[in-house]
Amino acid sequence: MDKKFSVVVAGGGSTFTPGIVMMLLANLDRFPIRKLKFYDNDAKRQEIVAKACGIILREKAPDIEFEATTDPQTAFSDIDFIMAHIRVGKYAMRELDEKIPLKYDVLGQETCGPGGISYGMRSIGGIIEIIDYMEKYSPNAWMLNYSNPAAIVAEATRKLRPKAKILNICDMPIGIERRMAAIAGLKSRKDMEIRYYGLNHFGWWTSIMDHQGNDLMPKIREYVGQKGYNLDDPEFKADPSWSVTYDMVKEFYQLDPNTLPNTYLKYYLCQDEVVEHANREYTRANEVMAGREKTVFTECRRIAEVGTAKNCGFEVDEHASYIVDLARAIAYNSKERMLLIVENKGAISNFDPTAMVEIPCIVGCNGPEPLTVGAIPQFQKGLMEQQVSVEKLAVEAWAEGSYLKLWQAITMSKTVPSARVAKQILDDLIEANKDYWPELK
Ligand code: NAD
Ligand code: G6P
Ligand code: MN
Repeated sequence: MDKKFSVVVAGGGSTFTPGIVMMLLANLDRFPIRKLKFYDNDAKRQEIVAKACGIILREKAPDIEFEATTDPQTAFSDIDFIMAHIRVGKYAMRELDEKIPLKYDVLGQETCGPGGISYGMRSIGGIIEIIDYMEKYSPNAWMLNYSNPAAIVAEATRKLRPKAKILNICDMPIGIERRMAAIAGLKSRKDMEIRYYGLNHFGWWTSIMDHQGNDLMPKIREYVGQKGYNLDDPEFKADPSWSVTYDMVKEFYQLDPNTLPNTYLKYYLCQDEVVEHANREYTRANEVMAGREKTVFTECRRIAEVGTAKNCGFEVDEHASYIVDLARAIAYNSKERMLLIVENKGAISNFDPTAMVEIPCIVGCNGPEPLTVGAIPQFQKGLMEQQVSVEKLAVEAWAEGSYLKLWQAITMSKTVPSARVAKQILDDLIEANKDYWPELK
């Protein structure tokens, strides 16, 4: 392990950046870093985070060269890994993504339904731009992407940059597996061996075992029937809206006695209830702006003011260490088994080979090798075919500038009741996104 790596965090001004920096510092023995750069297209926002992180780095790892920039050439030259978490349009646009569909009694969500499609139409251009910078300035680098909506972003890169060295990953299964491990009485999610398939934010665990081969599924299912994925342990304390989400799993997990579902399926299987409980004036975007965003930026400003990060409020985002696991798998050919969003290519035998699916892969220096899933049941297959069509149509709409395809995409979403409502939502979204979307004809 002589080599030290050069990393750029794209979306340096993200609310997650300080936690990621703390996590990278805590993992330097596993993943040594010589240079860390921040890149963002909002200099002011990034500067606040960079000032604080610069102080943290100076105090904890003065050998790491650190720089924050908005200049692509500076950011992407001499880079081994890009860790990308951009949010094109920031929270102001997330708020509109959530509130516009709600006007028409359709759920408003960051990555699901019309809100997710709207966000996708903004993200595609931003992600493609970063891939092009990477290929121009550091063609041997890998991009580890967790910018959302990951499903649409992954389909866009498959279609538009098929050779790009980008790996798309999501932390939701990791977060749920941490909960499952605790329910099963295990210390770590890595004490479990799982099988899972689906699309991003749209999948199911089919097997959960410990390393001795004991089936943990019955115990976890029994618990889920009582409490969903909620735990009393303060380590798993969640924002109220996330507790509601973890709880709601109770309502639909029984649809299939052989699996456990991803929480995001609530938006497709309990859509009426989600709309009923929604606060149209105050959505998750408002909650995050008043919560995580405010806390993170207040703390960054405080650190900059006092000039030291001693006793700082940032904790190691340990669950984000999956990003280091992924970088290590590429860098050291570790052959770790991880859930990634990859082209199906027959892994799910009765499903579109060109669909971007979330399945276990063995990850080594040449990227992911997906494991075979086999044939999936009609229930999941039907749901996934509808959803993957939404995602593919959205990407086609972006690439072709097609109003019709985007109208079809929104109409096809299981969260939307009719073509008429889809059109009303679409027309409002076009107006709201005029600075971000390609022109649609
Ligand atoms: P945020 O708004 O705080 O940060 C995003 C940053 O990206 C902002 O500083 C913004 O200026 C910057 N940005 C926007 N467009 C850009 C562009 N074209 N080029 C460079 N920078 C750009 O958002 P956040 O809540 O911290 O989330 C960041 C991203 O991470 C979101 O996409 C979110 O959905 C995603 N996320 C994904 C997962 C996952 O499981 N895949 C988990 C958590 C967060
Ligand atoms: C999970 C998902 C992410 C999503 C995030 C939203 O971690 O996997 O894809 O971005 O939740 O969280 P927020 O706190 O911003 O609503
Ligand atoms: Mn996710």
